[in-house]
Amino acid sequence: MTPEEFRDLFPALRSTVWLDTPGSPPGAGPVVDALRDTMSAWSSGEFDWRMWDSAAEDARQLFARFIGAEPGTVSAVGSLAEAAATVAGSLPRGRVVVAEDDFRSNLFPWLARHDVVAAPGDRLADALDEDTALLAVSEVTTKDGRRRDLRALRAATDAVGARLFVNLTQSLGALRFDPLIRPDYLASTPRRT
Ligand SMILES: Cc1ncc(COP(=O)(O)O)c(C=O)c1O
Repeated sequence: MTPEEFRDLFPALRSTVWLDTPGSPPGAGPVVDALRDTMSAWSSGEFDWRMWDSAAEDARQLFARFIGAEPGTVSAVGSLAEAAATVAGSLPRGRVVVAEDDFRSNLFPWLARHDVVAAPGDRLADALDEDTALLAVSEVTTKDGRRRDLRALRAATDAVGARLFVNLTQSLGALRFDPLIRPDYLASTPRRT
């Protein structure tokens, strides 16, 4: 699909250039149609919950293919915060480094269970040491749209034996994902991608 064909899927973009937040973007035609069909079947009582489950399963498979992962390693959760909380709860207690200006969904879940070091966004590699269990970082910041160098951060976590959690909420789909980053955990809020 070309960028023009992709753009054409969004009816609002025929008359608008969207430069506002991706938190409340115009809807894509196929997504809006699927929502309308679901709402109408729900309202008339003619729905089958197994179709909802199978749509989620299809999405899981497609997402896995998109990022080049095995479908069995992908799970659907409700938010970025829930994904971070799931990982936070599965790690032994330890030191977690985050950027001090990162989106709050990538901060509070770590604080609940770990010793969190909040470092300046451009000094994350310096904040890592042998005691660091994990670095949790958003590829693109919400504050100013800056892109972090995930390849360099992967090298820095490898150097101290720390895991890497990447939040691709503002980048996946808009920027090409670099497989060399090999994150231990990759999470994204689907409604923004
Ligand atoms: C960088 C970033 N991460 C995550 C989110 C969404 O987090 P959640 O799914 O927990 O609401 C946003 C929302 O704008 C965001 O900008």
